[in-house]
Amino acid sequence: MKAVTVVAGTRPEIIKMAPIIRALRKRNVPMIFVHCGQHYDYNMSQQFIEDLELPPPDYTFKIKAYSAGVQTARIMMNMDELLKKTAPSLVLVEGDTNSVLAAALASNKRGIPAGHVEAGLRSFDLRMPEEHNRRLTDHVSGYLFAPTALAEANLKKENVWGKIFVTGNTIIDAVLQHLPIAEKKSEILDKIHFKRFALATAHRAENVDDLKVLKNFIGAFAESPVPVVYPMHPRTKKRLRQNKMYAQLLKSGNVQVLPPVGYLDFLVLMRRCELVVTDSGGIQEEATAPSIRKPVLVIRLSTERPEAVEAGFAKVVGTEKQKILKGIEEVLVQRKELSATSPFGDGNAAEKIVEIIQKEFYI
Ligand code: UD1
Ligand code: UDP
Repeated sequence: MKAVTVVAGTRPEIIKMAPIIRALRKRNVPMIFVHCGQHYDYNMSQQFIEDLELPPPDYTFKIKAYSAGVQTARIMMNMDELLKKTAPSLVLVEGDTNSVLAAALASNKRGIPAGHVEAGLRSFDLRMPEEHNRRLTDHVSGYLFAPTALAEANLKKENVWGKIFVTGNTIIDAVLQHLPIAEKKSEILDKIHFKRFALATAHRAENVDDLKVLKNFIGAFAESPVPVVYPMHPRTKKRLRQNKMYAQLLKSGNVQVLPPVGYLDFLVLMRRCELVVTDSGGIQEEATAPSIRKPVLVIRLSTERPEAVEAGFAKVVGTEKQKILKGIEEVLVQRKELSATSPFGDGNAAEKIVEIIQKEFYI
């Protein structure tokens, strides 16, 4: 029986593929797990495989790339060789990174269908490399697993060729599966200096590679009316160091900078914070999980997750310092009751996706 190849290249892909890997194993569907090495630090890759109790990847690429083009091309070349050798029935990719586009294109060139998990998201912001990656991936995929009806509508508007299924987002499955374990195992709160805090993350290229925006973020965190816990992405650390701002930020009594934390620790931080301030995509979704339910300020000009805004969890506040500070103050004053249901599903997305795969390929 041919296998399903599950591809992950970055931190969020490992997290969102974990429930699918679990469902494939539960149903005895043969699987090949590939880590394509876009993220390579322990705390951006292996830590998640351990935290989520995943099997070790069957193949791991070492791509050492310094430009997006070379990174994408090297992943494609590695995938091409692997697909020739293993000839799977389907290649599953998740999200909008360079790894996703590279793996989907490589499958297409080998005549093997790609299945795109989290298909149909659109920010309509063409400054974002992710917007290009997700559009292109949707158009070369044979199977499109849209998380919501809105994502499905986006795909239909663009007349994609593949079959569309609405399944929910596997991030909700991941939160439900891991928060109870996280609450027992994580010791992160012992290390946090503040009782009440905002949880912040920032890594989007169009934000942290723009010095003006980077300064706005750091200024807003330093002046926030509630102290900030800030697990820092390596891209952002590199930019702060290049601009001689990192040491200055560490001195701020209002901001506790952490290295990127593991998934269990991050879930506990989300559960305990007053609010989340982020430019992340996945965190906007996680905040809507019934066991988390946290307000999110999206420090970006757009979101491809308008469902989180419509459901009352998220607000897009832009990237100016004063607007971010005003947003934080409003959340602290309003203390809005948040919905007990998530627009991204009820935690069964992975089971639905694997059931579809079984029907399409194995029955
Ligand atoms: C990538 C994705 C982004 C996703 C994010 C998840 C693309 C275009 N971007 O952004 O959509 O939200 O991953 O976190 O695919 N670095 C390290 N160690 C690592 C990984 C990265 O030091 O393990 C540093 C390197 O300097 C690297 C830089 O971060 O050049 C950027 O990494 P890259 O994978 O290109 O993009 P991300 O910003 O991580
Ligand atoms: N996350 C984590 N540790 C951190 C920061 C984020 O485990 O220090 C998790 C978070 O819970 C979410 C995912 O990483 O599931 C989001 O990844 P990221 O923000 O890097 O990428 P995006 O979702 O924006 O593509």
